[in-house]
Amino acid sequence: MDKKMILSGLQPSGIMTLGNYLGAVKNWVKLQNEYDCLFMIADMHALTVPQEPVNLRKRCYEVLALYMACGLDPEKSTLFFQSHVPQHAELSWALTCTTYMGELSRMTQFKDKSKNAKDTGVGVGLFVYPVLMAADILLYQANLVPVGADQKQHLEITRVLAERFNRLYGDVFTIPEPYIPEVGARIMSLQDPTKKMSKSDSNPNGYVSIVDEPEVIIRKLKRAVTDSDTRICRGEGKDGIENLMSIYSIMTDKTFEEIEREFEGKGYGDFKLAVGEAVAEGLRPIREKYNELMNNKDYLKEVYTKGAQRASRLASKTLRKVYRKLGFVDRT
Ligand code: TRP
Repeated sequence: MDKKMILSGLQPSGIMTLGNYLGAVKNWVKLQNEYDCLFMIADMHALTVPQEPVNLRKRCYEVLALYMACGLDPEKSTLFFQSHVPQHAELSWALTCTTYMGELSRMTQFKDKSKNAKDTGVGVGLFVYPVLMAADILLYQANLVPVGADQKQHLEITRVLAERFNRLYGDVFTIPEPYIPEVGARIMSLQDPTKKMSKSDSNPNGYVSIVDEPEVIIRKLKRAVTDSDTRICRGEGKDGIENLMSIYSIMTDKTFEEIEREFEGKGYGDFKLAVGEAVAEGLRPIREKYNELMNNKDYLKEVYTKGAQRASRLASKTLRKVYRKLGFVDRT
């Protein structure tokens, strides 16, 4: 039997953080053996907010190198740049025509992001972003889409758009399921544990970059915001500690109960140091591999070229069906 399809991606909108790694890529690595996986670098999505071209290109390489440094294996998974597969834009247009303005206006991410864009004007790209994301997923007939909790609403609209298209024109699309990990789905800012850890945080102490040096990582975790209590456990008003427990739990494979026992009677200082060391140690091999890959652009090029070829082959199959259903004349 054919393996089930998985598609996911990250935007190259900054250097990857510990949150992207623990919440996303680390889980993807485990899926590669069981599923047919495509992992994309969503460079077209990055254009929904202003980008400096030189930086964007650099970050695209960085994200690819980080995917591989984290353990995504180009022999097992298809790694590619979204912009290298023109079918994403083509399917996106077709889906746009059966999407309602109201549906897109209700997206919480659009509402949040458009608030920040008030003085520059709100871009149409930001508005139609979920349709492009739906196209990303539906082109590959993905069964499962591993994403963080913040993307759940985008998955829901993808399902709505796929079902609507199938109803209007006949079955073409597989209806995808979200796949959200229990622990680590939301790694929060170290400075404000009610907000998601984000590379666009204006305070660099809020996030750990995957390529931060060990001393920097340990320092940032030492400064992590906690509470005025002393116990290392979950509870009301203990979002900071819970976030650190999630990070420690994923880095060390220990359960929350084991962590509570390990730090019983110890202070926050000891705990934060332990988390810092676990993160610094866990990221060390990734940083080393990343540096090696960034010095080997030829290899990266080989990987993304092969990735785009396979992705295009799959995508064009779906797009051909869609165009036929829509009533376009077959290309000869
Ligand atoms: N919107 C996602 C994010 O910002 C990235 C993304 C684009 C994506 N297309 C996708 C994720 C398709 C999963 C599937 O994180």
